[in-house]
Amino acid sequence: MFYEELERFMSKFGKEEAGSAPWTLEIQRQAPVLIIVWNAGEYGWVTEEHSVAAAMQNILLRAYDLGLASLWIGDVFYADEAIVKYFNKEWKLSGAIALGYSDDKGRIPPRKPVDEVAEFLE
Ligand SMILES: Cc1cc2nc3c(=O)[nH]c(=O)nc-3n(C[C@H](O)[C@H](O)[C@H](O)COP(=O)(O)O)c2cc1C
Repeated sequence: MFYEELERFMSKFGKEEAGSAPWTLEIQRQAPVLIIVWNAGEYGWVTEEHSVAAAMQNILLRAYDLGLASLWIGDVFYADEAIVKYFNKEWKLSGAIALGYSDDKGRIPPRKPVDEVAEFLE
């Protein structure tokens, strides 16, 4: 489903518009487990998306503890409608998480110094 939807998206909007989605899909296809993450929107609060993001982060941290590799997947936009239809949910699709075993030692992206990403007021 993901592959067909991405092909459809790229033929309509062009490869550029797909951004990192082809790369993400490649990892997704190699991973033995894909968790689809939903926001059930129980109360309709904006903060529900915060809770979903925190839950995703917790899954990634636990996966790391267990020696698993993981990928937080935001690249689901091109298949949004198809996924919702497939699972037949009333919920909002938040993203996905791929889980598996790393095939290399992993690359840690360079970190920006804290002063670059935060402003401290006195
Ligand atoms: C909200 C969010 C969505 C992401 N979506 C994707 C994705 O769709 N594809 C991908 O390859 N990486 C995705 N990533 C992973 C990032 O590209 C990056 O590898 C990861 O966050 C580790 O870097 P960091 O520790 O600096 O955040 C996502 C990360 C976040 C936080």
